[in-house]
Amino acid sequence: MTTNAELIQRRAAAIPRGVANSLPVYLERATNAELWDVEGKRYVDFASGIAVLNIGHRHPAVVKAINAQLEKLLHSAFQITPYANYIELCEKLNALAPGPTPKKSMLFSTGAEAVENALKIARYHTRRSAVIAFSGSFHGRTLAAMTLTGKVQPYKAGFGPLLPAVYHVPFPLSYHGISTADSLAAIEQLFKADVDPQQVAAIIIEPVLGEGGFYVAPPDFLRALRALCDRHGMVLIIDEIQTGFGRTGRMFAVEYSGIEADLMTVAKSIAGGVPLSALIGKAEIMDAPAPGGLGGTYAGSPLGCAAALAVLEVMAGEKLLERSLRLGELLQSRLRALQKRYPVIGEIRGLGSMVAMELVKNGKADQPEPELTRALVQAAARHGLVILSCGIYGNVIRFLAPLTIPEKLLDEGLEKLEAALAEVTARASQAAA
Ligand SMILES: Cc1ncc(COP(=O)(O)O)c(C=O)c1O
Repeated sequence: MTTNAELIQRRAAAIPRGVANSLPVYLERATNAELWDVEGKRYVDFASGIAVLNIGHRHPAVVKAINAQLEKLLHSAFQITPYANYIELCEKLNALAPGPTPKKSMLFSTGAEAVENALKIARYHTRRSAVIAFSGSFHGRTLAAMTLTGKVQPYKAGFGPLLPAVYHVPFPLSYHGISTADSLAAIEQLFKADVDPQQVAAIIIEPVLGEGGFYVAPPDFLRALRALCDRHGMVLIIDEIQTGFGRTGRMFAVEYSGIEADLMTVAKSIAGGVPLSALIGKAEIMDAPAPGGLGGTYAGSPLGCAAALAVLEVMAGEKLLERSLRLGELLQSRLRALQKRYPVIGEIRGLGSMVAMELVKNGKADQPEPELTRALVQAAARHGLVILSCGIYGNVIRFLAPLTIPEKLLDEGLEKLEAALAEVTARASQAAA
């Protein structure tokens, strides 16, 4: 039998350290919300491969659609000899995107690629170059996406020079005392001190910060950004890569604010585990670049399209938006009960099933507990639960279980979480004594 220890050694010799692994565990197989490693140990999955598996691992409908597609066409490059399921998926995405303006979509392979293309199109359409993004945001690891990302360590340090004319302003974080008014004032200040709004091509924002810690953008803030973009002719890019496809209880999180994005990036849970991303936008803006300016060899593979079409059917058939809301409420109420016993849980927040808890010392928002958070992730894995940390200060646990997780399994996962929390908090208080 191959062991985790053997694979850790081989990995260290063969693969650069820059691509980090959060757990010393090598997987062999997975079904819905359960994982098994190479040693046969079972885990409850509260990570969904970083928000990719809203409909669970290897959903039978996705597996069936992939198998059927494999028998027909695996690759041809949409730019050379196109195929129908690319069109069918784009038609569906155009219809699903919030707002009355006619939409067009195009497909890529990764989230970062969708972000890069959003920026290209916004620049082409406006003939401007500057961009406003938010501190704590995450938009990907390619050059432009990395520049837009609002965190230097570990994403940007050492990788420069970055794109010019990218400005970061504070994201509203009520738990840390940053209000909607503060964030809007920072943008106005930027227009006074640093950049003419007439030079700004776009504002890009996640409706709920993903890697940044699951802080929810207040709906009035998103509405204010919409108004600002309209006033100055800037393109509003909503990054729904982590929030999309039912995670927040709506198909897209931006729906809570009632605004219409100019461009919207989606990826992750779009295709049930097959690499696929999309850019959906107002047709007039999407049509700005000339033919040949957009594309990619693998962009919108037939396999990805087939899987994504199956995902949309599963979401409707299994009523996963309603389930996302119900699971989110259940999860938040269970975490609140836990918070009464563990004061280290400073805040519980979320939207639908995009739920997080922030770990702090002495109940104080400005005393983050990143070490305890790291220890909790490792302890949870020893107890058979995979969870992810995130957050500007590295002290947030985010919950991203598949929306298809049976309640019994959710309970089992939460019991493992509590066991791990008991272990790490006891160890921390022993160390302090
Ligand atoms: C909000 C957001 N945007 C963009 C990305 C980048 O996506 P990818 O890793 O597929 O390039 C991510 C990935 O975590 C994300 O959460």
